[in-house]
Amino acid sequence: MTYSASGAATTPPMGWNSWNAFSCSVTEDDVRDAADLLVGTGLRDIGYEYLVVDDCWMEAELGEDGQLEPDSEDFPSGIDTLANDVHEKGLKFGIYSSAGDVTCQGYAASLGHERTHAEQFADWGVDYLKYDNCGDHRGRDAISRYAAMGQALAAVDRDIVYSVCEWGQNQPWQWGRNVGAHLWRTTGDIVVRWSTDSDEFGLGIVDIIDQMNDPDIAYQNGPGGWNDPDMLQVGNGPESGQAQHEVADIDRELTAAEERTHFSFWCLFSAPLMAGNDLAEMDDATREILTNEAAIAVNQDPLGIQGTRDGAVENKEVWSKRLAGGECAVILFNRGERTAEIATTVETVDVPVDAERYSVSDVWSGDEWTTSGSITATVGTHDVAMFRVSPE
Ligand code: GAL
Repeated sequence: MTYSASGAATTPPMGWNSWNAFSCSVTEDDVRDAADLLVGTGLRDIGYEYLVVDDCWMEAELGEDGQLEPDSEDFPSGIDTLANDVHEKGLKFGIYSSAGDVTCQGYAASLGHERTHAEQFADWGVDYLKYDNCGDHRGRDAISRYAAMGQALAAVDRDIVYSVCEWGQNQPWQWGRNVGAHLWRTTGDIVVRWSTDSDEFGLGIVDIIDQMNDPDIAYQNGPGGWNDPDMLQVGNGPESGQAQHEVADIDRELTAAEERTHFSFWCLFSAPLMAGNDLAEMDDATREILTNEAAIAVNQDPLGIQGTRDGAVENKEVWSKRLAGGECAVILFNRGERTAEIATTVETVDVPVDAERYSVSDVWSGDEWTTSGSITATVGTHDVAMFRVSPE
């Protein structure tokens, strides 16, 4: 198999994807607007560089020679022109297909046409491919289907970040790198909920946090190969016109604290940060979360380690992640329904224990102090305190 040595995705990819906000109604005008808004809101300059068009950009049938064709009504300019427009804004352009005969919404897809489609993507100037798992698989297993596209992408003369979206069904963290992938979904579709019941569509924030804390998954994470717990739902609360949920007919409910917890854990996990909100509607609270530089610095730390849980007492949990230079990120997480005091020490979290003092900076408030070892905070329900801890 191929191992991508292109140097792509040495830190977790950051960007914006059309699915959560626009679902299947996305048009090329929405994509151009999103490009302008990524620039205008400052998101591009803080690192959100990939603009990815998800499902429904293509016609329902392949062309005569097996090629993908853009929907003539919604994408009349053609993908090369659109990619060029996005590049002119200083952004990278991503696209979507599926390793089956159709996409999840029933449009034409790539199984059996990988070479043709990879060449089309390269010719169009595509920088990122999200590759889904829908459609008929013609009896082929996941590794063979995802390797076929990985090899096709490796053969074209363009670096294309390869995002495998197989929902974690066949342990892609074990073989993602071997098929040339730079990231792979570990889990099912994220919805704007704290948690969901087993008979409901999708997974809530805390459901995904728990599934990610599996040593088999966590220890596979690192530069060039990322566990992907799915796109961000920050800013997609009940007040937003969130299209994905209209399709799936589910209620949306995440509090401000739960959104902060969601973003904090995706940063602690070194997860890809793909925003999914309608950027035209973004309010200050959402913008403050998505552009928190201290949290993003934890996410983009060059070691690329996925933080894990160090311990839990009832609903009070301590999580940490080793950072470059002997530093460490800590999350004190209150899973319970009442405000709680949560305490830990440097012996518990992932930091060298031989320093006399440590400086602590609060990722959300910006407060700074020093400690000889203990780290405590009062944390509201479903909220976190998040710190960067540095030996002095
Ligand atoms: C799902 C995928 C979502 C979105 C959707 C599009 O399989 O997990 O992220 O891409 O398909 O139809």
